[in-house]
Amino acid sequence: MSNRITAIRGFNDILPPESRVLSHIEYTAIEVFTSYGFSEMRLPVVEKTELFSRTLGETTDIVEKQMYTFSDLSGTPLTLRPEGTAGVVRAYIEHALYTKAPIHRLFYRGPMFRYERPQKGRYRQFYQVGVEVLGDEGPFVDAELMEMLSVILERVGVKGAVFEINSLGCPGCRQPFRQRLGGFLEELKERLCGDCTRRMERNPLRALDCKNPTCRELTTNAPDIYDYICEGCSAHFDGLRAALDGFGVPHRVNHRMVRGLDYYTRTAFEAVVDSPRLGAQNTIAAGGRYDGLVKELGGPQTPCFGFAIGMERVALLVDRSLIGEEPLFYLIPLGTEPQQRAAGLASAMRMAGMRCMMETKRGASLKSAMKRADRLGAAYVLLLGEDEMKERSLTVRNMTDGTQRRLPLDTFIEELRQGLP
Ligand code: HAM
Repeated sequence: MSNRITAIRGFNDILPPESRVLSHIEYTAIEVFTSYGFSEMRLPVVEKTELFSRTLGETTDIVEKQMYTFSDLSGTPLTLRPEGTAGVVRAYIEHALYTKAPIHRLFYRGPMFRYERPQKGRYRQFYQVGVEVLGDEGPFVDAELMEMLSVILERVGVKGAVFEINSLGCPGCRQPFRQRLGGFLEELKERLCGDCTRRMERNPLRALDCKNPTCRELTTNAPDIYDYICEGCSAHFDGLRAALDGFGVPHRVNHRMVRGLDYYTRTAFEAVVDSPRLGAQNTIAAGGRYDGLVKELGGPQTPCFGFAIGMERVALLVDRSLIGEEPLFYLIPLGTEPQQRAAGLASAMRMAGMRCMMETKRGASLKSAMKRADRLGAAYVLLLGEDEMKERSLTVRNMTDGTQRRLPLDTFIEELRQGLP
């Protein structure tokens, strides 16, 4: 047994039936995205390392210590994508999408990779579905997308999500705030945690959402960004709150929320759920505005907003009773002739949109086939034996109450679809 190969820590095998929960979240999200006019972008999971170090920020946790970086055989430094926004922006510029339409609504899905300490709701490979709107300065669109997120959460039965919002200002007004905050932190230098002290110069804002209790306590009276943001940013934030009220999205202002990525400007938000099922990792989706990123990567000035949903975290909360599944029909042919006929019947049922499996094991006894049907959770078993063949019919057995009836082969599909026996 010692030479068994196992999966890498933090990389999960997602098996049925759990995989169905993730698919359900993904399909629901995509259905809702589509109804809001979004189209899919399928992007590589590997990008040049520089893309992430330039967009996410050199001093962010992700770039400093969480990236899966390696060189390919030609020596080019590559990184498994830790998030989706950087790739979307890269592709937007590379394909000059801004020349094709003034506003783009795009969504993506797939695995992301971060070398974090695995725990409940936190993995090294995890799945996101995300959206980006490129070319709209908001704040109405920011609120519309948050409302869209609340619709998805409602459809999958996640209750109690609170939208925490903040404004991070623009580079113009953030600078004086950073300086003031830097000065405030300087005086506490000796007592702050290692991360906060190290980042103090290049990224003092991160101290505001440091999880260390001592840092939280020490920064209770830290300067408030809202006292520093410029008129434009302040009007944007007020507009966001009014639009959220208009959409009926309950929200809570949290001036200490700064997010772990450097590209954000103005709106930042997190959807948080307080639930014992989640524990410490209680942010199920997050995003914000990144008005400077397209330009920084060589495109034209383009205001953008987006968010990503952490699918595994949502999976811990979904109401599984809402995941409907078509009833399974299990077709058991008994004998050579019935077996030849069965393939055509199964195929006709599938064409009619029914979920059908067939007993394929050669020479299986009725008993063992019934056992398999039961294990698979079949709602109905369809028996096709010599008698049935003679009568041009089949026997339908309701697996819940054990009742049986015969239906003619010519009409059984219609009869089953009209009202299940
Ligand atoms: P993020 O906050 O880094 O933002 O990730 C979004 C969500 O992904 C988190 O709220 C969380 O639910 C989930 N997530 C993050 N890390 C992990 C992990 N290690 N294990 C499980 N789930 C995780 C972004 O990624 C931005 N790109 C969002 C965005 C889009 N901003 C603008 N547009």
